[in-house]
This record gives sequence, C-alpha cells and structure tokens, in this order.
Amino acid sequence: MKRTKISDIFDPALIGSRVCVKGWVRTRRGNKYVQFVALNDGSTIKNIQIVFDMNDISDETLKPVTTGASICVEGILVESMGKGQSVEIQAKELTVYGTADPDTYPLQKKGHTLEFLREKAHLRPRTNTFGAVLRVRSALAFAIHKFFQERGFYYLNTPLITASDCEGAGAMFQVTTLPLNNLPKNEDGSVDYSKDFFGKPTALTVSGQLEGELGATALGAIYTFGPTFRAENSNTPRHLSEFWMIEPEMAFYDINDNMELAEDFVKYCIGYALENCADDIAFLAEHFDPQLTERLRSVIDCDFVRLTYTEGVEILKASGHKFEFPVDWGTDLQSEHERYLVEEHFKRPVILTDYPKDIKAFYMKQNDDGRTVRAMDVLFPKIGEIIGGSEREENYDKLLARIEELNIPMKDMWWYLDTRRFGTVPHSGFGLGFERLVLFVTGMTNIRDVIPFPRTPNNAEF
Ligand code: 4AD
Ligand code: MG
Repeated sequence: MKRTKISDIFDPALIGSRVCVKGWVRTRRGNKYVQFVALNDGSTIKNIQIVFDMNDISDETLKPVTTGASICVEGILVESMGKGQSVEIQAKELTVYGTADPDTYPLQKKGHTLEFLREKAHLRPRTNTFGAVLRVRSALAFAIHKFFQERGFYYLNTPLITASDCEGAGAMFQVTTLPLNNLPKNEDGSVDYSKDFFGKPTALTVSGQLEGELGATALGAIYTFGPTFRAENSNTPRHLSEFWMIEPEMAFYDINDNMELAEDFVKYCIGYALENCADDIAFLAEHFDPQLTERLRSVIDCDFVRLTYTEGVEILKASGHKFEFPVDWGTDLQSEHERYLVEEHFKRPVILTDYPKDIKAFYMKQNDDGRTVRAMDVLFPKIGEIIGGSEREENYDKLLARIEELNIPMKDMWWYLDTRRFGTVPHSGFGLGFERLVLFVTGMTNIRDVIPFPRTPNNAEF
C-alpha cells in the first residue's frame, strides 16, 4: 500500500485507518507481551511508535528489528495511551529491508558527542541532531531563494573555476591537469601554464562577486548561491575550506540601501526558520542551547546598530576589556572584538562600516578621506562576522589606481574593469556565509556540524 511519511502521520483524520510507514529504527524496547519500536524516516524530528503484539509475531521475526535497521510497517493508526506520543501504529505487517548489526552499527548507542559523530559523518544524518540541522539548513536555502525571487532578483550562476582572485587573499585551491611530478617548464624554470587545461593558471573561486557585478550591471539585481573555496589554514569553529555563500549584487544601491537589504534579508531567513522549523529548533534548543529561540526572536525584533569601524575601535579601546589580540585603528577585527561589540556593548547585531582600506579588498568604494572604504560587515552574537559587503568603486580611474597600487595583474582584470568603462553605475552587494547563518539559527557552535560533509584542513574523508 501507499506509504505515508511520518511527518504526515500525526493527522487526526488518519486515526482508525490502515497506514504504511517506512524508516529506520531508532529504538526497540518492551517485554514478552508487547514491543515498542520508535521509527524515524527523516521527514520530521518526531518518531512514530510502532506497537507489536507478541501474540501476533514471533521473537524470531522481530529479532532483526534493531537500532539502525530499515523496515516497512503496515498497521492501524490509533490514539496512544502512553505518554510522549499522541498516536501510534498497531503493527499488522512487517518487512525488514536492511539489518544493522548491533555489534558493529556505529550509532547503536544514544548520546554520542558531536566530536564522535564528526568521525562518522557518513552516518550522522541519521541522528536526531543532524536530522534537525539538515532540515533547518534546507529550509534556510529555500527561504533565501524565496526572499530574492519575491523581490525581483535573478539567480545568477557564477563559475567555480576562475582565473581571478576576488578577495585578493591568495588563499585559492589551484585547478590543474598538469602532471605534478613532471611539470612543463619555461626557459626561466617557471611552470608553462600554456600547457595546462585552460592555457593559464586557474583555481576554485573564493567568491562569485566579480562575475556577480557583471550580472547586476545588466539585470539590475542578482544573487548567487553556491559553493566557495578557501585554502586558508584556519582551524576555527567558524571556518570551512568549502562553504556556501549567497552574494546579492545590486545596481543603483548605495551602502545604505545595501545595509537595509542585508538586515531585512537575515531577519527574513531567521523568521522563516522560526515559522517553518519550529519542531527542529525546539529540539536543538532543548539539547544544546536553551536561549536559542529567544535569541532568534530578539534579532528579528531589534534594529541593528550602525557604526563606523573608527567608532567601534574607540569603544573597544575604551572598554578596559582584556582581549587576546590588541586592537588599534588599522588592525583587522578578531571575532573576540566583534563579539564584544555585539554581545557585551550593544547586545544586538551591529553593522560596522567604513573600514581602513588596507584591510579590505580592492573593489570597495573609496571614501574621500583617502583612508577608508565603504565596507560593511554585519556582526552577530555568537558568530561575529556573518556578512561582508560594500558599495563598489564604480569610478574607472580610482579602481584602476587601486588595482595598480596592490599589484593585481591587469591581465586578469580587464573584463571586470570594462563594467566601469561602459555604462558604469553606483552599485553594492554583500556575501552571507550560509553555514554561519545555519550556525546561528541552529545554535550549534562548530561550523563542521552544520554542513553535511565538512571540508577543513586535513579533512576530506566523507
Ligand atoms: O567577507 P568575505 O570574504 O566577502 C566576500 O567574499 C565578498 N566577495 C562578498 C561580497 O561582497 N559579495 O566573505 C563573505 C562571508 C563572510 O562574512 C562569512 O560569513 C563567510 O562569507 N565566510 C566564510 N564562511 C565559512 N568559512 C570560511 N572560510 C569563510 N570565509 C568567509
Ligand atoms: Mg569579510
């Protein structure tokens, strides 16, 4: 008979009818008269309780129904007498699809640590925690598309293989088909990239922004949503080597329009998750972060603080707080500084603007003071920087001067400069780190636990 997903089984209209469910056994307990199986199929955090009357079924038949086994059950949905569930299924027919040997199934026991589960990343989606996180992640991805599509933004796919380094940090993964043990060489001993697949050095992209600007200056407003790669050796709870980024880019937006959009956008996503993932968020709050729901609500309800970098640094210096990294005008802010401003000083998200030009990328619009650029970072409680963006330098001469000042190879940049040569317009954009948003919404504390298969230094097993 037709299968009903467990997410749909708690419908009172189904009570009394015969249903069919399929899923993985979470637990089995009971006695010689009756056995209870908690079944989950991934469609919801909730399990359905299956009741086996041991008069109808032999011990032997039920033996393979152990934690992790996959089964199909047909039976009658009835109101439950027991505590903890509204309905249960009185089993009539059982099919075992696959067993999971209790002696070797890694998730046999409950209550594994997140560290242990990272070593079992191929199976951890079957736990309650990762089921909840992955459903929230999926809902957030949908919310992101919904937000932009409803506002007339076009989804633009930018290349993953690129010849330019958008952020200028040099932390790129090279893409090559050259034989590494026998590289073709030029006369001066350097590698002859004309022999490489693309005839030049290429790498995995660190950002789709530069191509996004090409889209925005044609379609008006676009967003990208795709994987991004950074070969920085940062082993922190907030960095991945492969992460997903959402990069909207808008013609005719100045920095204030940009800040407004960023604030509306993150609030919308958080609100969407609260509304559509209530069960999963409640589970995560109960098990990991009692303040989670309250924190999510408070971010939606408040106005984000808007502050210049210079003012931010003054607050930090005057705070008397002892930071691990000293802070002074011109230094890049560490997450401890960002979090101090957000969690201790203002107690709400902060958008910091007008950073020193030397710590920001070449494309940001230069302010008249000659020292700062029209950057904006959105800083969040528990996370620090969740969004980085700016108004873009639309003036051809100023942009070219900055590119030359930073010794960025012009041969990589001519196409980007063409946007400023032909019909240049004021424009702005930003990048939201998807996993940092998922971290915030799920209340998890390590970014490795909010992406199905994390890529970090020395870790690409699964
Ligand atoms: O601040 P970033 O480097 O900005 C850019 O890449 C711009 N091109 C964005 C734009 O203006 N279109 O990165 C943007 C965001 C950060 O705020 C952070 O949330 C996330 O991407 N991020 C990372 N997330 C996980 N792991 C990493 N290694 C990350 N690096 C940046
Ligand atoms: Mg940044």
